[in-house]
Amino acid sequence: MGESNVGMQGQGRVIPVADLRYQAALPRIPDQLPAPGHWPQLLRDTRQRRLHDLRISVTDRCNFRCTYCMPKSVFDKDYAFLPQSSLLSFEEITRVARLFAACGVEKIRLTGGEPLLRKHLEKLIEMLAALRTPDGQPLDLTLTTNGSVLPRKVQALKAAGLKRITVSLDSLDDSRFRAMNDVDFPVADVLKGIDAAHNAGLTPLKINMVVKKGLNDQDVVPMARHFKGSGHIVRFIEFMDVGASNGWRMDDVMPSAAIVARINEAYPLEPIDPNYQGEVAERWRYKDGSGEIGVISSVTQAFCGTCSRARLSTEGKLFTCLFAQQGHDLRGLLRGGYSDAQIVAALGLIWGERSDRYSEIRTAETAALRKVEMSYIGG
Ligand code: GTP
Ligand code: 5AD
Ligand code: SF4
Ligand code: SF4
Repeated sequence: MGESNVGMQGQGRVIPVADLRYQAALPRIPDQLPAPGHWPQLLRDTRQRRLHDLRISVTDRCNFRCTYCMPKSVFDKDYAFLPQSSLLSFEEITRVARLFAACGVEKIRLTGGEPLLRKHLEKLIEMLAALRTPDGQPLDLTLTTNGSVLPRKVQALKAAGLKRITVSLDSLDDSRFRAMNDVDFPVADVLKGIDAAHNAGLTPLKINMVVKKGLNDQDVVPMARHFKGSGHIVRFIEFMDVGASNGWRMDDVMPSAAIVARINEAYPLEPIDPNYQGEVAERWRYKDGSGEIGVISSVTQAFCGTCSRARLSTEGKLFTCLFAQQGHDLRGLLRGGYSDAQIVAALGLIWGERSDRYSEIRTAETAALRKVEMSYIGG
């Protein structure tokens, strides 16, 4: 049953043991399984944080090479993306999602890489949209995309049951945006994607801007200005030390407080309450009533204390922190003939033992550790 943790896998290639993607232990199955009808419905970890949000990476590939996420120097033509046979199938993803929903997950976000590059994604969305929480509610089903192929896909996504969408956009300045995505992709085409999603009713629509000091911080106020009054919510994200290849330095981080101060100077802001406990973004609204923005301060104001997110990698490894160095091999359980009750019991153990708080303990030394790449684990 299951498979080895490291070493030989996939199409006969030898995969270096140092490749973190393959370091995942088969989860332990407790001797005592929950009785039918008595699955744990509200898991709590060692810090009493519940499991609320599952982020699923459906592909490790992307048509962009954002310098802070998939730098070309690493993700070049020789980079070994996962082979098709390693990916979880839609049936496997849906099974995992169903079991997580039974354990209290209420929100599912599809990520990548670029999720819209996964073939027939709308089929998966249809399958996930049919899932229900234990009290019969549909899940909050959303995805994060770079927007590049949205105009072509948006109708099918909406028809399949997608609720809302988040689009990444780091600058409105065309030359800066082309340099940041590093594939010369024009900003006008992302804006077309945003309009298409808006027209299809995939709202509230959020726009994620990663701010890197000295690179695109001059674009903060223009970004706020552009979307003010549009109904879309721009979230400004501190540049983080995810993965092991983006050359992160504290000096490159533009603190959220400085971002809020800059926007506030141009357009007065006031704070508003979170939508739900554990929300990643801190919310602010324009005093003139023309909408809201958010700031995501993983570096200067860690939000680990309320972190309720689990991540499922493209090949079915479960990570309980974005900065994890090791995952749990759920695919091994899915393909190893384990029952739903066994998998649920294993999830209960994993979550029950969770103590992650990376952003609270980040230092220059931890930043230099080899962590899994965000394009693999999901943003
Ligand atoms: P909503 O469901 O719309 O509230 O979105 P969200 O709060 O789930 O935020 P989203 O998925 O858009 O995340 C935005 C960005 O926040 C991500 O791309 C990451 O950069 C960062 N982020 C999200 N979750 C975490 C987390 O658990 N830890 C850290 N450190 N950063 C996170
Ligand atoms: N720092 C912060 N956010 C990042 N993302 C990717 N890399 C980083 C990073 N180094 C997030 C962005 C993007 C999403 C796909 O992943 O929010 O919109
Ligand atoms: Fe692709 Fe998003 Fe990463 Fe950019 S940030 S390389 S669009 S996955
Ligand atoms: Fe959660 Fe880890 Fe992010 Fe902290 S650093 S908020 S524990 S994912």
